[in-house]
Amino acid sequence: MFQSRTAVLTRRSLLSGTAGLACTALLPRQAVANPDFKLVAKPARVALTGKPHPETPVWAYNDLMPGPTIRARQGDRLRIPVENRLAEETTVHFHGIRLPNAMDGVPHLTQTAIAPGSEFVYEFSVPDAGTYWYHPHHNSAVQVGRGLCGALIVDEREPIHVDRDVVWLLQDWRLQNDAQISDDFRNMHDMTHNGRIGNTVTVNGTVPETFSVRSGERIRLRLINAANARIFGLNFARHRPKVIAIDGQPVEPHEPADGRIVLGPAMRVDLILDMVAKPGERFQVVDDFYRGLAYRVIDLAYADAPYRDRVPDTPIALPSNALPEPDLTGAQRHEVTFHGGMMGQMMMRDRGLGGLSMRDMMHSGKIWLINGVATVGHVMQPMLTLARGRSHVLVMANETAWWHPMHLHGHSFRVISRNGVPTRYREWQDTVLMEPRETVEIAFVADNPGDWMFHCHILEHQESGMMGVIRVT
Ligand code: C2O
Ligand code: CU
Repeated sequence: MFQSRTAVLTRRSLLSGTAGLACTALLPRQAVANPDFKLVAKPARVALTGKPHPETPVWAYNDLMPGPTIRARQGDRLRIPVENRLAEETTVHFHGIRLPNAMDGVPHLTQTAIAPGSEFVYEFSVPDAGTYWYHPHHNSAVQVGRGLCGALIVDEREPIHVDRDVVWLLQDWRLQNDAQISDDFRNMHDMTHNGRIGNTVTVNGTVPETFSVRSGERIRLRLINAANARIFGLNFARHRPKVIAIDGQPVEPHEPADGRIVLGPAMRVDLILDMVAKPGERFQVVDDFYRGLAYRVIDLAYADAPYRDRVPDTPIALPSNALPEPDLTGAQRHEVTFHGGMMGQMMMRDRGLGGLSMRDMMHSGKIWLINGVATVGHVMQPMLTLARGRSHVLVMANETAWWHPMHLHGHSFRVISRNGVPTRYREWQDTVLMEPRETVEIAFVADNPGDWMFHCHILEHQESGMMGVIRVT
């Protein structure tokens, strides 16, 4: 129901004057989007919480919360002008898309930021099918925290059969009683702990009541975590969702541990959700990631009439995206160690390392470190230089007391081990959630030349040191 509030821009609607799928199918695959379609970032007012609460002033794309869903087919070329009508600079990063470095949307690294009143045109092809999203990469904690984000869906050339394909874009807002966004961005507590966790979770831009389903239906549910900092652990009551893709990339279909879908900030999970209960039944979807803080996200409400007798048993495995396979025996290994944050001094002292004092942190804003360096601001020398075309393993040791979703731009990587134990599915991801004190190994072929951001996607951590640049040359 709330789906209808989200405008969906398909290639069909992007291509003006060509109505109907039959026509678009005949167009060359390099066809570009209608030049009239652009993203306009500007202040807006939206009804996040509904009556009796007032509207919330936000920053939005095209007055929509979330921004318009960009929908393309694998291999399409997109042309997306972005106009900045905010009072500050911005950029757009298309998270998870393996695109050329100049289109990556990182100010001072891959482009000049888009000044207020001006425009930048992003133009790139989408090599991989899957669920992606876009968001600013300038002043990110504030710009994303005020609402700037949207879904980018790339359809397979031959999609699997489902009855409905649904996006739930999850956002987490810190609202005051009057439904205004609390402007305590970048406070010391958020930066040194688990980031800006809000108090209001929206699905596709509203605090939802129910999601209407029908017995016998098979739904492909695309979850996108667009929160600054909140990690979700979603439980679907008596349903047994199967994970078919993580961060856009297909994975062997499986039920997750305890049936719980864990999504760190910026992560996406595609599920097959079979509606196996009876007409008229109702179930709560509960997020219980943080101990003692479980809450209901939405209700699954079964209609009185079934859709069909039983769910289909057609195949659900997605076609692979043909990513370059890393060669683990010949790979170069690189150690990447994370330190800092609250309780981080103690952990560093245990290792015989000097730590930052709380006073240093307050003064410099340098709270989190990667290989001993806290990067704040813009000057970024590469922390690692990787030989192009070769396989690399990053051995990432989280020596902090906190969770971190680590994101690498321009590449997808396989998560090959956790605490020395090989992973069962060797998932391809672009953002990997590390537990406190966990060591995670990722492997990939560095095939995309350029300077790429590597950072924690808890935006308050990113902006207080937990970022670096990985050069592929
Ligand atoms: Cu979602 Cu550096 O990005
Ligand atoms: Cu972090």
